[in-house]
Amino acid sequence: MDRHIVLIGMMGAGKTAVGGELSRKLKARFIDSDHEIESAAAMTIAEIFARDGEEFFRARESEVLRRLLDGPPMVISTGGGAWLRAENREMIKQKGLSVWLDCDLETLWNRVRMRSTRPLLKTPDPKGTLTQMLETRRPYYAMAELIYPVQPGDTVDQTATRLLGMIREHHPETLGQA
Ligand code: S3P
Repeated sequence: MDRHIVLIGMMGAGKTAVGGELSRKLKARFIDSDHEIESAAAMTIAEIFARDGEEFFRARESEVLRRLLDGPPMVISTGGGAWLRAENREMIKQKGLSVWLDCDLETLWNRVRMRSTRPLLKTPDPKGTLTQMLETRRPYYAMAELIYPVQPGDTVDQTATRLLGMIREHHPETLGQA
């Protein structure tokens, strides 16, 4: 690979699962930025939000992203909010191919509803919050270099295969195949 492949998009879009599978297919390294933040802090994301607040988390997120992007090319999955900061978008644009996993609301909701790990969804109406969040964030996600429309029925493997095909077709330089 000649540059990073950076997966962005909403919680539940499959960034971590698809990123892992994509990296296996490419025989590249894979890192999930949320996991990096958690291991550096020795706390879960929920604990960081509860103890130090969202701003503190966002600052750590930018630091981790910068460190990962400064390293050798790999597949990176980001937390759903990472792309919203202009500073992070700039860093990602300079060092990698940004890929939005564009996933419909019902699929996102079905994936996140059973989990209690997302502090931003701990509201009286989590589905309403998710809906609102998708609407607000969509124009930002749409600035990604590559938009991949997630097919709700696809397995992780199918998604990674199709996505890789799209990268080969539209961004072969990312894979060092230009
Ligand atoms: C967030 C998404 C989460 C995590 C944090 C905030 C967001 O990551 O970074 O809870 O703002 O959308 P995932 O997208 O991996 O769930």
